[in-house]
Amino acid sequence: MLTVIEVDRLNFSFGRGVLTQSVLKNITISIHQGEIVLITGPSGSGKTTFLTIIGGLRQAFYGSVIVLNQQLINSNEQTKIKVRQQIGYIFQQHNLLKSLTALQNVSMTLEMHNAMTERQRLDRAAEMLEAVGLGNRLDYKPEQLSGGQRQRVSIARALVGKPKIVLADEPTASLDKQSGYEAVSILKRLAKESQTTILLVTHDYRILDVADRVVELEDGIIKNS
Ligand SMILES: Nc1ncnc2c1ncn2[C@@H]1O[C@H](COP(=O)(O)OP(=O)(O)O)[C@@H](O)[C@H]1O
Ligand SMILES: [Mg+2]
Repeated sequence: MLTVIEVDRLNFSFGRGVLTQSVLKNITISIHQGEIVLITGPSGSGKTTFLTIIGGLRQAFYGSVIVLNQQLINSNEQTKIKVRQQIGYIFQQHNLLKSLTALQNVSMTLEMHNAMTERQRLDRAAEMLEAVGLGNRLDYKPEQLSGGQRQRVSIARALVGKPKIVLADEPTASLDKQSGYEAVSILKRLAKESQTTILLVTHDYRILDVADRVVELEDGIIKNS
């Protein structure tokens, strides 16, 4: 099986000198293509920090973090950009642009794909919104949608560029049980169809059963893997 994320003895700290706080301690984990891995653990255990390092959004210096064949430890900006372009991100707060419609929010992500015409971008975005069950909400703005629908727009936005990896940080935290479960099930179905790897941080125990594997992070240490 193809390994898309390979982390070996990753250590990460915030601060310097006497204020140094060690947040990730000797993290070692391999994640395969198409695998859905949930990371759980108490608040403050280092989950978001870990996700941002994998996503090339935060620089780490100790250990090895190979994502899509790129070493991110001590990496340059170019390398991080190359990795970021192949990743879709979903956050707890949907981060949609208020003044844009669902269709525009999703198609915007494709603007860096120069090979596509605007028509193609809009068609592809509409297709993706249909896939998350929002085919009849293309022209709605975020405030005209429910929390669950907004999160489904975020899922469409994360997947529209056909990423190899999706990183999701507590995507169901602001949703009720039903919409949270629905959103994650849709994400799982679409990811399995395209062999996308998902790394999803949550302390929502209601969604653990969508995972192929659940990893527990406690105080910067992986309890099982
Ligand atoms: N930018 C930052 N600067 C300093 N400390 C931080 C920063 N971000 C997070 N931390 C600290 O690192 C630890 C882990 O945080 P985080 O990764 O956000 O945990 P989680 O997502 O599991 O709640 C916490 O103790 C937090 O206070
Ligand atoms: Mg967090």
